[in-house]
Amino acid sequence: MAAEMALVKPISKFSSITKPKFGDARAPTCSLRPRVFTIKMSATSEQATTAKKPRKKVNKTAIKETLLTPRFYTTDFDEMETLFNTEINKNLNQDEFVALLQEFKTDYNQTHFVRNKEFKEAADKMEGPLRQIFVEFLERSCTAEFSGFLLYKELGRRLKKTNPVVAEIFSLMSRDEARHAGFLNKGLSDFNLALDLGFLTKARKYTFFKPKFIFYATYLSEKIGYWRYITIYRHLKANPEYQCYPIFKYFENWCQDENRHGDFFSALMKAQPQFLNDWKAKLWSRFFCLSVYVTMYLNDCQRTAFYEGIGLNTKEFDMHVIIETNRTTARIFPAVLDVENPEFKRRLDRMVEINEKLVAVGETQDIGLVKNLKRIPLIAALASELLATYLIPPVESGSVDIAEFETQLVY
Ligand SMILES: [Fe+2]
Ligand SMILES: [Fe+2]
Repeated sequence: MAAEMALVKPISKFSSITKPKFGDARAPTCSLRPRVFTIKMSATSEQATTAKKPRKKVNKTAIKETLLTPRFYTTDFDEMETLFNTEINKNLNQDEFVALLQEFKTDYNQTHFVRNKEFKEAADKMEGPLRQIFVEFLERSCTAEFSGFLLYKELGRRLKKTNPVVAEIFSLMSRDEARHAGFLNKGLSDFNLALDLGFLTKARKYTFFKPKFIFYATYLSEKIGYWRYITIYRHLKANPEYQCYPIFKYFENWCQDENRHGDFFSALMKAQPQFLNDWKAKLWSRFFCLSVYVTMYLNDCQRTAFYEGIGLNTKEFDMHVIIETNRTTARIFPAVLDVENPEFKRRLDRMVEINEKLVAVGETQDIGLVKNLKRIPLIAALASELLATYLIPPVESGSVDIAEFETQLVY
């Protein structure tokens, strides 16, 4: 999964980057912090990164986890087995899955993720806040990719007997996500750090979603990942002066992996028309669109320094990604949000303001009880905005009769 391309927390202005070409230079602020616990991260020594078996435990540091951080998912694997049993589900188009499997076996990006000395050189040039911003970007992105790896790997394992073709596709997608996570973790080694993925697997809390919701959420996260990567890639290609770390040069092929993953979920949903063809499906589709778009918007608005550092206006970038993702999603979901209605963006911006106030409450010296009391009206206001956004008249979309819908590259 691209899961999402979760980026970084703001620190302050960059030290070595010129002023963004466009964009509001507002200092980053917002964050939802209902629960905070820590993830162990270990630093590697310079020497260790070049050794065959890098030593990982030198210094430990921690990153805070919030509602907006990338999550790990688990599901009802027994129900998944039933859904993909060809004896039970006659809607399964095995020919389509065989064709998709061939596509995944081709492994277009087998030799794509090869690093060069530019990485270390670029990292060494980064100092202070900029360096910290990139470390957090790599951490969060690595966690998001690794989350996809774990889920797909388990699905590949559990569906092996029931539907070997679908199972193999999941395994090959987990290969892709492992590659993405590994590449990002290598990036961390440029900064003399490494995420302890083994520890993360055990220590992280898993969010349970029923299969139906896994399909909606994962489809969206793959497609939104595609649009984020390709938009950043195209922007930096047009504005190379903002290319401050070479990882972005890999996004063009990388995003095609995410696109293929999304197309596979599209095929999976077509094989489960009960998830697409009734009023409940419409309500859930809109709910997941809202969750994914709002999470990204709030997340990114607390990391404007990162986007400004690569010459993007955070809100413009996000709205572009949301609109494109929504248009893609409308090809399969039975209903989507009307994100092109100006009211949608107005409400998103209002949520950012409320979120900023929530952060400000968290940063006061008040005792916990006082902070919580101050948070109540803000959380109520946020919930009210979410509901109002959800209730904006939706766009009817998708098609139950989608046999002609072919897997294809979007751009
Ligand atoms: Fe993916
Ligand atoms: Fe990925």
